[in-house]
Amino acid sequence: VLVQRLREAVPAVLPSLLQCDFGNLQREVDRLQAAGVKGLHLDVMDGQFVPNLTYGMPIVAALRRLTPLPLDVHLMIGAPDRYIEAFAKAGADLLTVHIEALTQPAATLAEIRRYGIGVGLAINPKTPLSMIEPWIDRCDLVLVMSVEAGFGGQSFDPHALDRLRQVRRLRDAAGRTDLLIEVDGGVNRQTIADCRAAGADLFVVGSALFGSSDYRTAVNELNLLIDSQSSTLG
Ligand code: DX5
Ligand code: ZN
Repeated sequence: VLVQRLREAVPAVLPSLLQCDFGNLQREVDRLQAAGVKGLHLDVMDGQFVPNLTYGMPIVAALRRLTPLPLDVHLMIGAPDRYIEAFAKAGADLLTVHIEALTQPAATLAEIRRYGIGVGLAINPKTPLSMIEPWIDRCDLVLVMSVEAGFGGQSFDPHALDRLRQVRRLRDAAGRTDLLIEVDGGVNRQTIADCRAAGADLFVVGSALFGSSDYRTAVNELNLLIDSQSSTLG
């Protein structure tokens, strides 16, 4: 499955489609593919779980028709169980839900698993990591938020580095080399190398990419910064 393709691609930059040109998705996807990205990160917000409201299944389905790249769908919505089937059918390859939005994490994670797609669990900066610890063995990916979920363009919270290191330790302790560790929020040329050194595999980048006119150069620069740290990680 496509989650496996994502595993083979790490470390990798995943563009967050939040500040892109939604009037010309085809062109955006073409430019991102030409820039060599290994997957797309899609930010779904409901105006309830987070104050911002973005898009839902139709955009995921449209992107599915436009690209074979893995679609990493970040659900920032309350009671996400209601929509898991719909997002799976729209073409998500990996569905990430927020621990803060779950009343029965085991049931929600099992529901995602039922569709044969990747299972992700996200955690906001202020939520104790102990909240996700019991569920990590049921996940393919842990998303450590480095800003409070809701908006692009916020600045990176350096505490996320400690949290990445802790998740990395949990992963090593559990012998889960297949578990993907993703970081999201304020990741840019100033912060990406530290994120790599702290153990992140997947780097979600919004404004630092879509603010530049040349995606290929921007992605290459970020990849070089990631590679500058790789030797310190196993
Ligand atoms: C924030 C979203 C992020 C965001 C990243 O709630 O989950 O994916 O779009 O954007 P930047 O890179 O601008 O912080
Ligand atoms: Zn996101």
